[in-house]
Amino acid sequence: MKMKRTKVVDALVSTDFGKDINVKGWVRSHRSSKAVDFIALNDGSTIKNIQIVVDPSLVDADLLKSITTGACLSVVGTLVESQGAGQASEIQCKEIEVYGLCPGDYPMQKKGQSFEYMRKYAHLRLRTNTFGAVFRIRHHMAMAIHRYFHEHGFFYFHTPIITASDCEGAGEMFQVTTKNLYNLEKDEEGRIKYDDDFFGKTTSLTVSGQLEGELGATALGAIYTFGPTFRAENSNTPRHLAEFWMIEPEVAFLEQQGLMDLEEDFIKYCVKWALDNCKDDLEFLNNMIDKSLIARLEGVLKEDFVRLTYTEGIRILEEAVKAGQKFENPVSWGVDLASEHERYLVEHHFRKPVIMTDYPKDIKAFYMKINEDGRTVQGTDVLFPQIGEIIGGSVREENYDKLMGEVERRNVPMKDMWWYLDTRKYGTCPHAGFGLGFERLILFVTGMQNIRDVIPFPRTPKNAEF
Ligand code: 4AD
Ligand code: MG
Repeated sequence: MKMKRTKVVDALVSTDFGKDINVKGWVRSHRSSKAVDFIALNDGSTIKNIQIVVDPSLVDADLLKSITTGACLSVVGTLVESQGAGQASEIQCKEIEVYGLCPGDYPMQKKGQSFEYMRKYAHLRLRTNTFGAVFRIRHHMAMAIHRYFHEHGFFYFHTPIITASDCEGAGEMFQVTTKNLYNLEKDEEGRIKYDDDFFGKTTSLTVSGQLEGELGATALGAIYTFGPTFRAENSNTPRHLAEFWMIEPEVAFLEQQGLMDLEEDFIKYCVKWALDNCKDDLEFLNNMIDKSLIARLEGVLKEDFVRLTYTEGIRILEEAVKAGQKFENPVSWGVDLASEHERYLVEHHFRKPVIMTDYPKDIKAFYMKINEDGRTVQGTDVLFPQIGEIIGGSVREENYDKLMGEVERRNVPMKDMWWYLDTRKYGTCPHAGFGLGFERLILFVTGMQNIRDVIPFPRTPKNAEF
């Protein structure tokens, strides 16, 4: 009779000592001595390996020798209480079946390879301890996000990936077309004709689900999106991807104070979820990657986030410059804060997360609610230690005339956004929302330094391998 497979995560906590079980997985290490062989087996269900104790006289010597790091095995054996420290149980091997041997040129064989090296083998780095931990945590964070919104009465709302509008107005869109690029028909003025393209107009991959999210919120009350987002910005930084995942809640009748409360409560829930549900993986990362990781996560839960206007923030930065602080990018009222400025405020000045509000309107998108002063808008971003901007949000301009004023002033192409304006025309309501960059959250929670290492197969300029 074929035996049912036991996952390593379950075998390690089982107390069915004396019972035979079957585990399957990949060899992390194989140590031999005359009397006994130890094979550490991992199946991805946990950071921990199960130890297989092999009596070499019971297994073909050549076969046993060929089992090296990376090989894939099925093992039947008796679960016994472990004699060694560090694990409760181990397996006294009875039978080994080799699914796949792993030749010596296995790129993940050596320990301590750089992350840069491992990125070239993104298909195999998943099998290492670090990436296993990162992607298990990534899964748990997605679960936390869905649970948070579900528990708080938000509906999961699916917004389109192909769109004809540029929400952020930054023109960083990847075009979608079925046109033959080798034979492009042009009109008399030399412009490419799109009326015969698949959608009959120019379309792109979405940079944000917000505009459609607002349609959902002004009908269902509170929604959130959680989907892939694409930006063709040519920024080769450790914080930017060309394809990333964004979570965008949008809420009717929410004002700026409530928006800040929601941002803070949501992000704390996610961090707490990681501490409660990813203990083994976090402890591993804390030991191997960043010794202050867990303390930093716990710190975020204890602190009230600082709430600060952009204008106050600039004043603090200007004072720092006067006192000798050097920044690469100049500071003055009106500039878009660079990540070095954000991190100065969060890591040096306040030493806790900051919610920054009321930015100059010219550095923010057209849809943000304009303040009484006429020159600032109710942008409401969250700045985090190690990360900089983790959330970008705002109260939305719900007044039709004021919104149109901005649309005209900025020449926002509204031909394809008539439906957005209709929300302001028919029963307009105050509303607000934000976007959390999922990978930036994962960076914070894992302590990893480069955003390319928290998404399985990163997309960045000149890089779409795998
Ligand atoms: O600040 P952003 O551009 O805001 C929006 O897209 C709004 N429509 C959100 C909303 O109000 N519904 O982006 C939101 C967040 C940023 O704070 C950052 O965490 C992340 O998305 N982000 C990126 N993450 C990885 N790579 C990129 N290129 C990113 N661009 C933005
Ligand atoms: Mg932003």
